Amino acid sequence: MAEPTSAVSDRQGPDDRSATGAAGATGTSATTAGGPDRDADAGLVLHQVAKTLGGRLIVDNLDLRVRRGELVCLLGPSGCGKTTTLRMIGGFLRPDAGQVLIGGRGYTTTPPERRPTAMVFQNYALWPHMNVFKNVAFGLRLRKLPKAEIAERVERTLALVNLTHHIRSFPAQISGGEQQRVALARALVLEPEVLLLDEPLSNLDAKLRVKVREDIKEIQQRVGITTVFVTHDQDEALSISDRIAVMNAGRIEQYAGAHDLYREPRTRFVADFVGTMNFFEGQVRAAPAGGTGDAGAVVEVGDVVVPCHAPSALAEQPGLVGVRPEDVRVGHPGGVPARVVREVPRGHFTEFVLDLGPLTLRAFVGADTPVGQETVPVTFGRALVYADGKLRSELPGGRAEG
Ligand SMILES: Nc1ncnc2c1ncn2[C@@H]1O[C@H](COP(=O)(O)OP(=O)(O)OP(=O)(O)O)[C@@H](O)[C@H]1O
Ligand SMILES: [Mg+2]
Repeated sequence: MAEPTSAVSDRQGPDDRSATGAAGATGTSATTAGGPDRDADAGLVLHQVAKTLGGRLIVDNLDLRVRRGELVCLLGPSGCGKTTTLRMIGGFLRPDAGQVLIGGRGYTTTPPERRPTAMVFQNYALWPHMNVFKNVAFGLRLRKLPKAEIAERVERTLALVNLTHHIRSFPAQISGGEQQRVALARALVLEPEVLLLDEPLSNLDAKLRVKVREDIKEIQQRVGITTVFVTHDQDEALSISDRIAVMNAGRIEQYAGAHDLYREPRTRFVADFVGTMNFFEGQVRAAPAGGTGDAGAVVEVGDVVVPCHAPSALAEQPGLVGVRPEDVRVGHPGGVPARVVREVPRGHFTEFVLDLGPLTLRAFVGADTPVGQETVPVTFGRALVYADGKLRSELPGGRAEG
């Protein structure tokens, strides 16, 4: 039997009482003058947290700051250290170094049952021999709360997740999505300060996943609970997060809102992992006078010169250029002819596969773009330039790493 949701919420239990109210920094970084941010307004702070397992460094001096009431996703490929990080927040693993703070108080070495956290595990296994009421009441009974209070809290939480009608049902009698909401209720009933969800939707089919993630977001906002949600599904992360921490090999590559992460991926890894990106070796230069319409620049790939409206940088040397498929513009005047290899109708847009000199490009274009042509003129709306795996940004408003 899998471990049940951690029982918690001992507000007397932090391991570092001196933490309360110090420093009071409000920056977005987890660090202030070398120490962790003890701002009580920070729902959760990880400061320089590290963990080695089986002789390998799995989490590498990780900093993360989650605002009170914020939903943050840890997004990254399998094995990058997401669950390990979550387990350190929940107290199931002790960091080798660094600090875990919740509401400005230190909890780095506090056991799970004395943390104000509750975790929904990757396989949310409910107790099959207990009905929904008993599954949700389990953690409260461990804490020996009065019967009437248990009943009141369980009923209130089941109403919150819309399951009142299944209060006497057994897990085998309810759907996967409903079981998921019971698992969520089992965590919420503990009234934690921080809710931890480890791939909570992985057992559900595609359609139900979308429905339940919207339910979770809605409930999370209604309760206003600080939440860390682990997933390797970018679609899931982009659609429910206030901010997303993209993890790679135990580090956070970028921490940003969905829009910034997608439009301005700071590293090649993030650009590749989040969404689709056409990558190729090329050179980006200022457009020669005349000849390229209103585009300010050109991207040169071998002998092909493509007008480009908004490059992140102009480079003297050839480098790695990234163009999102929706920034490959098809059918505009002044474009370079590309051969249409394939057209895939995708409902609200059409996907083109194009041969452009030495390049094969993917383009997403509006469904009203004329189809059935052998060649189409192509320009680039926006091109990102990467050097040594990092975004080169010369645009006004281009921000530094962070
Ligand atoms: N107890 C352990 N001993 C040795 N290695 C471990 C242990 N636990 C995890 N690891 C290793 O640490 C790495 C990160 O594991 P983790 O479970 O954090 O990954 P994850 O990002 O959650 O991946 P997934 O998306 O597959 O769940 C993996 O390579 C894993 O094999
Ligand atoms: Mg995991």
